[in-house]
Amino acid sequence: MTETIIIEHPAPRVALVTLNRPKALNALNLQTMRELTLALTELDRSGDVGAIVLTGSDRAFVAGADIKEMAPRTFSEMHAEDWFAGWDALTRVRTPLIAAVAGHALGGGCELAMMCDLLLAADTARFGQPEITLGVIPGMGGSQRLTRAIGKAKAMDLILTGRTIPADEAERSGLVSRLIPAADLRSEAIAVATKIASMSHIAAVTAKEAVNRAFETGLTEGVLFERRVFHALFATHDQKEGMAAFTEKRPPEFRHA
Ligand code: CAA
Repeated sequence: MTETIIIEHPAPRVALVTLNRPKALNALNLQTMRELTLALTELDRSGDVGAIVLTGSDRAFVAGADIKEMAPRTFSEMHAEDWFAGWDALTRVRTPLIAAVAGHALGGGCELAMMCDLLLAADTARFGQPEITLGVIPGMGGSQRLTRAIGKAKAMDLILTGRTIPADEAERSGLVSRLIPAADLRSEAIAVATKIASMSHIAAVTAKEAVNRAFETGLTEGVLFERRVFHALFATHDQKEGMAAFTEKRPPEFRHA
């Protein structure tokens, strides 16, 4: 039983995880971190889910890490507990993860959205890394992932001034995959997840792995990794089925396993 998140299955092979701490604008405390990382890990391993949507409320995706929980802590406590290290579990989720963001996506909220694979934003979304206004810096990967997503100039601007940007600027900057009217965000996100979940699961998982490899390695190694994985897919049912279906002019029936 979870208290800070709601898990639903709105379509076959699609999971919808909604952050649910409305009184704190979905600020991420330890309980949320534990519940969310465990839920996503279990959905990932279940074998029944081909894509996961992570969303918040109309007002806030997430307004950051929980400032009230962190405020009294000392350096030695933060260091000993390796505060935020638990979030690394999300980078081990192999199933495609879609962030559907409306309202505030600040600090840890922007960082959580950037840990997902696709970022869909309502026109009401606002993104930022305001940690500097609290006398700290991003701590859930923002200095690294924001810089990779939108480049040094914009990342420095957001991280050094703490200013927030609206969804259209985030989309122009390359942070956001698609901009969607707020009223349609949830249904569009489920439609995108349904589309991804209808593909060969092994192809989707390896495609995600290959794209993520681009952030960890040089071009020659990355292209070699891609080619080897491409070759390996010829050992799968889904490659045989996908290519036969094309030739026979019929929809493919992937095995999803
Ligand atoms: N932590 C804890 N509580 C938070 C919170 C947060 N990050 N953000 C909002 N809340 C709480 C508020 O304290 C308030 O609670 P009370 O009613 O008990 O006072 C409630 O949520 C509603 O918030 P507001 O009244 O402030 O709502 P608003 O509409 O006036 O403003 C806001 C919205 C601009 C998002 C404002 O709440 C805000 O600035 N929040 C903090 C944003 C922030 O600095 N985030 C970064 C956190 S640090 C971090 O994330 C580190 C990291 O790298 C991981």
